[in-house]
Amino acid sequence: MKLNISAASQFLAAGAVEALEPQVKSAQAALENATCPGNDFLGWLHLPSSITPEFIAEINATAKTLQENCEAVVVAGIGGSYLGARMVIDSLSNSFGWLQPSNMPRILFAGNNIGEDYLSELIDYLKGVKFGVINISKSGTTTETAITFRLLKKMCEEQRGKEVAKKVIVAVTDAKKGAARTTADKEGYKSFIIPDNVGGRFSVLTPVGLLPIAVAGFDIAALVKGAQDMEKECDINAPYASNPAAVYAAVRNAIYQSGKKIEILCNYQPKLHNFGEWWKQLYGESEGKDGKGIFPAAVDLTTDLHSMGQWIQDGERTIFETVISVEKPNTKLEVPSDEENLDGLNFLAGKRIDEVNKMAELGTQLAHVDGGVPNIKVSIEKLDEYNLGQLIYFFEKACGISGLILGVNPFNQPGVEAYKKNMFALLNKPGYEKESEAIRAKLK
Ligand code: PA5
Repeated sequence: MKLNISAASQFLAAGAVEALEPQVKSAQAALENATCPGNDFLGWLHLPSSITPEFIAEINATAKTLQENCEAVVVAGIGGSYLGARMVIDSLSNSFGWLQPSNMPRILFAGNNIGEDYLSELIDYLKGVKFGVINISKSGTTTETAITFRLLKKMCEEQRGKEVAKKVIVAVTDAKKGAARTTADKEGYKSFIIPDNVGGRFSVLTPVGLLPIAVAGFDIAALVKGAQDMEKECDINAPYASNPAAVYAAVRNAIYQSGKKIEILCNYQPKLHNFGEWWKQLYGESEGKDGKGIFPAAVDLTTDLHSMGQWIQDGERTIFETVISVEKPNTKLEVPSDEENLDGLNFLAGKRIDEVNKMAELGTQLAHVDGGVPNIKVSIEKLDEYNLGQLIYFFEKACGISGLILGVNPFNQPGVEAYKKNMFALLNKPGYEKESEAIRAKLK
């Protein structure tokens, strides 16, 4: 993975990134010595290097059981309990694989919304399908996931029998507390623990992400290896200028301090759409607090150049971009030549599709920089498990450092509770009687 900040630092005063070195160093030290706010949620910091081959083998063995016994596996989870797995699986999957016959289970995602139609349609699809469930919830009480799991558990037991259901339902949850733990223990499901000190949005390299990714047939050892190598590259002892997490954290804070409040993560590969969703949660939930924080947005390019391109080029100058660039495609396809050339495209004949894409990427970068949009580039050689592992750790480490430079606790999410309190009050959840009364008075 390579980080290039030259098209961003040209927007900053000379030495602005270097000037942040002391703050970056103190953030790194606070993470390392666990002296920062949120210091009970630093389990992600050296997580990659703590993952053993035995642990990977245990996850792979459970994945194999699900693969051998299921035509579909529903991953039930929301937020940090789903976005990482979805991001890796989508980034690595054949875009049209779901239309092709396969001897691998289809991976479906649910528990991430409360759409009645979505759930009804899922249940209709699963009728007669040999399906399993991975129920992922750290708290074990998240409403979206819990409702979905209740529906799926019942259906799985009715359709496949209690004994098979026990084999094909797996829980990923807290070691001791929460309804998901209670159910898993009572029913005798295989379960994996989400470590206490790893928050949801930093949990993709725990079984939260690793199990679904392994069930989808991807190489979790390579994913972890990529993260391990990046952990070394971003180590506290790495020189500032060659530590990508330190430099990225510094440059985005310098840009923020210069008045640009929105960071847009751009990709040029449709498979990376959910990378943007994962990244938005990581940075949005970590930094958006205390009235501060860069607003994380994401676009898929070139697709969104035909929708958001105008705004990015020419709208309010409060944005900067971070582009994920994939150097080499995994396949080869050229623009064919055409005798009649009715579409006038013969000037591209014989060129790789990716060459056209790369010129779109370069042309866009130049145009956006000309339009006043600082541009950070993060390149990986190709889309595979190893490179995704590198990106995951790079963005996590940078996020921890960046949040501390910003002066917030990057590891809590107090703002997420507000809607839940209102929802429970409106639904008359036991224990919310006072809130129910207050909210109803407000609505009168
Ligand atoms: O990052 C977070 O902490 C959140 O997005 C959680 O992952 C999300 O709310 C789901 O929580 P839980 O795993 O407890 O069901």
